[in-house]
Amino acid sequence: MKPLNVESAARKKSMENMTFVLFGATGDLAKRKIYPALYNLYLDGKMPQSMSVIGLGRTPLSSEDLQGQIEDALHQFSRRDVQNDNLQDFLDKFRYFIFDAMKEESYVELRKFMEEREAELGIPDNRLFYLSVAPRLINSIVNELDASGISRTNGWRRLIVEKPFGTDLESARELNATLQEVFEEDEIYRIDHYLGKPMVQNIESLIRPNPILQALWDHSQISNVQITASETVGVGSRASYYDKAGAIRDMVQNHLLQLVMMTAVHHEQKLSSTQIQKKKREIMESISPVSEQDLENNIIRGQYTPGVVSGESVKGYQEEDGVKEESHNDTFFAAKLCINNEHWNGIPFYIRTGKRMNEKATRIVIEFKEDSEATKDVGIVSNLLIIEINPNESVSLRVNVANHSSDKFEPTYIGFSKNADQQPEAYERLLYDGMIGDSTFFAHWHEVELSWEWVQPILDAFAGNEVPLHTYAAGSTGPEASHELVRRDGFNWN
Ligand SMILES: NC(=O)c1ccc[n+]([C@@H]2O[C@H](COP(=O)([O-])OP(=O)(O)OC[C@H]3O[C@@H](n4cnc5c(N)ncnc54)[C@H](OP(=O)(O)O)[C@@H]3O)[C@@H](O)[C@H]2O)c1
Repeated sequence: MKPLNVESAARKKSMENMTFVLFGATGDLAKRKIYPALYNLYLDGKMPQSMSVIGLGRTPLSSEDLQGQIEDALHQFSRRDVQNDNLQDFLDKFRYFIFDAMKEESYVELRKFMEEREAELGIPDNRLFYLSVAPRLINSIVNELDASGISRTNGWRRLIVEKPFGTDLESARELNATLQEVFEEDEIYRIDHYLGKPMVQNIESLIRPNPILQALWDHSQISNVQITASETVGVGSRASYYDKAGAIRDMVQNHLLQLVMMTAVHHEQKLSSTQIQKKKREIMESISPVSEQDLENNIIRGQYTPGVVSGESVKGYQEEDGVKEESHNDTFFAAKLCINNEHWNGIPFYIRTGKRMNEKATRIVIEFKEDSEATKDVGIVSNLLIIEINPNESVSLRVNVANHSSDKFEPTYIGFSKNADQQPEAYERLLYDGMIGDSTFFAHWHEVELSWEWVQPILDAFAGNEVPLHTYAAGSTGPEASHELVRRDGFNWN
């Protein structure tokens, strides 16, 4: 099998000197993900020779204070140990600038600060803007970047935007219109960190160089595809956000539909970033829109009740702090969808996600058609190709092997796994791609819009309470109705 981490031509592009402008430098995401990712890229030599990183926030800090906070964050969150001999060289790249996104004068001063630093380092005005701030600030930031001239560069400019990308179809369109007034689509990098996960990035390099897998990647061989993203945790301290978002906005519109697209793309040949985007768009366009009948039969909404997770009794969703009384919010979602194209016609894709489930797992399972003659033998089960994405990273193939002492067949798994600790984190891969200008693993606007279009009728039906709210005990495998969804077609969740 081809080694993982195969780098495309685009990924080998050299990295140009640049300024990395981090809006939200004092925030949680910066500390947990962005600084550790930058540090690990630095350790791998995947940084420009000369780089100015300017952290922004209202909190009054000096550059030394920020560097101290970054050092603490690295000790806490870096996947590799901090190395004392190079730490200062890394930290020296960072400067802090006190900045209020709502104040026009902040931008005028920022421009001066940024230009002085560019001159000091002798670097061109290639600028990467990373918006790690609440969505309500994005409009002002993007408009002021333009008005102040900060984004009018002679060099390249790029904009990385965090999720959530809108809360429904209309707000997503408004947000996008704001971005596209100032930036071109190919300058906008919408983060969906599931696209940065190694096993998701490696689907192509698993299938394309392996003719036996490529031959199987087709509706003549496959009976169904299942995509699961389950968590054991509950809503935690995020109730104020989650009670409005639900599993459908938090997980389905973005991550699960991206996994559907990534699974369904056919890689007969090496595809460029633009070709992959085109294929993903075509897949979304081929998914049947949600009908009244789907809402009745193929969409499952669930919410957890008290139960036991990993041996510990836990509250039900309604009892969680910050959840409004008699909330109908979905903490579980499952659906059956169909992709009407030449490859997937008639093959159901089942997706499900939930909080407070029995296991933490993100996986894609391809189930193959059974041989009706062979299944008469005792113990024969369908073949499965299982791609574990998180927390385990592995690929396995379930085959039937005869056990001669019992005269039965037994399922056996052929596979390989990766040591997840030694793999670059999603944010490392995505930041690196942003810095070299490879948008393959970012969400293109067409994908985002088409995903919201698919989801919108479900959001409306949930808001109007037109879909039953099924309950499931915390620590279980989800509502009975979700099992029935696949059982009806002769399958089980794998
Ligand atoms: N945390 C996560 O795991 C996660 C995951 C995915 C997406 N996201 C998204 O990423 C974004 C950031 O998340 P976060 O968890 O880091 O949020 P956070 O901890 O609340 O940080 C927000 C940041 O925004 C800055 N800020 C707020 N108002 C500002 C203003 N008027 N001008 C300039 N800066 C301002 C804050 O700095 P000051 O207070 O110093 O001004 C702080 O650095 C959010 O949109 C979130 O939805 C977060």
